Amino acid sequence: MIQLDSKFIRSQFPAFAEPSLNGWGFFENAGGSYTCQQVISRLNNYYTQTKVQPYYNYPAAQKAGAAMDESYRQLAAYLNVREEDVHFGPSTTQNLYVLAHAFRELWNIGDEIILSNQDHEANAGFWRRLEKTGIVIKEWRVDPETGRLNPDDLDAMLSNKTKLLAFPHCSNIIGHTNPVAEIVSKAKTANVCVVVDGVAHAPHGLPDIDSLGVDIYLFSLYKTWGPHLGLMTIKKEIMDTLPNQSHFFHKHSIRKKILPAGPDHAQIAATAGVAQYLDTVYEHHFSETVDPAEKGRRLKKLFQDHEKSLLQPLLEWLRQRDDIYIVGPDDPALRAPTVSVVPKKKSIDEICAVLATKKLMVGQGSFYSVRPLMGMNIPIDPGVLRLSFLHYTIEDEIAQLIDGLAAALD
Ligand SMILES: Cc1ncc(COP(=O)(O)O)c(C=O)c1O
Repeated sequence: MIQLDSKFIRSQFPAFAEPSLNGWGFFENAGGSYTCQQVISRLNNYYTQTKVQPYYNYPAAQKAGAAMDESYRQLAAYLNVREEDVHFGPSTTQNLYVLAHAFRELWNIGDEIILSNQDHEANAGFWRRLEKTGIVIKEWRVDPETGRLNPDDLDAMLSNKTKLLAFPHCSNIIGHTNPVAEIVSKAKTANVCVVVDGVAHAPHGLPDIDSLGVDIYLFSLYKTWGPHLGLMTIKKEIMDTLPNQSHFFHKHSIRKKILPAGPDHAQIAATAGVAQYLDTVYEHHFSETVDPAEKGRRLKKLFQDHEKSLLQPLLEWLRQRDDIYIVGPDDPALRAPTVSVVPKKKSIDEICAVLATKKLMVGQGSFYSVRPLMGMNIPIDPGVLRLSFLHYTIEDEIAQLIDGLAAALD
């Protein structure tokens, strides 16, 4: 079995060679990851060589446009979608805000949408606001004990008035990976548009979106080792039906009509660095020539095998403590390495203060996932202590985390 070469992986991220971060264990990756060198280089090149309006006739503009086009092309290939299905916006939140406005123009009073209460607010609030305009909201609820969504609940919720189903590939607090393809097949029997928030999933390996069958998939590139942008894929057949949300003269521009904010050219150009990072990692670990979608599948398995090998001892250690409660599944096979815990004896503030003295960066709070916490009867304030890591994390850091937690909890 091919194993991830962590030394090589970490050599691709300047943060691991940065003296001011030396010795710090980074466990707030679900909030935003370190950035790979390939992205930083492209951003630097754009700002130094081609910081002009792209796509005009002179060389710098041509080069700028070509760098942006490369990002559409290379990310589409990894995600296994058509290039025209890829869209970049300022963030996933903003992308969903615009989508909710666009879809509303297609629906009638009394039409229904199904929303989970496992979502980050980005894939919840803007859709729910449509209730004021006559759209009927049906809530697909998590099990309060396990935090999991049961796909079978949808059978009674889907109707001939259902227009859309929105849910997360994985919650940024509960960590359970939802069976997206199974859920999509239920939705498709009712001809419902499926919108999946993949923000908490994609950092653990880019998804093969074609095989998931979703209509719209969103994630945030600043959590997948890239620049601060939101990427969404929208099937062109759906995009064609969406009303223009930009200036009136953009209504036929597939890249612009759903993005009222002007695109951040430099960051779009930098995004191809994410694909180039994956290419570099692939070439280091595999010798066979395959297309990017297959590279993506192999790398996802490589990343996740490594992550799960680190998650196992962490969950095992957390499981034997009687002074904390683990949110979501405690089986590494079922979840992402984004582990929220609720301490029973000490306050989260106290724990985080000790962890900082042990050079551990962790997260605390509700992470805009207020509805999942409410669904599990966990107080929003103080929320949870969140420990999240990625494929570039190593065994020594997990040991550092466990030692730090032991000192903070005892
Ligand atoms: C699961 C999930 N969805 C959506 C978002 C919002 O993403 P963005 O910051 O790009 O708006 C986040 C951000 O933390 C998230 O964790």
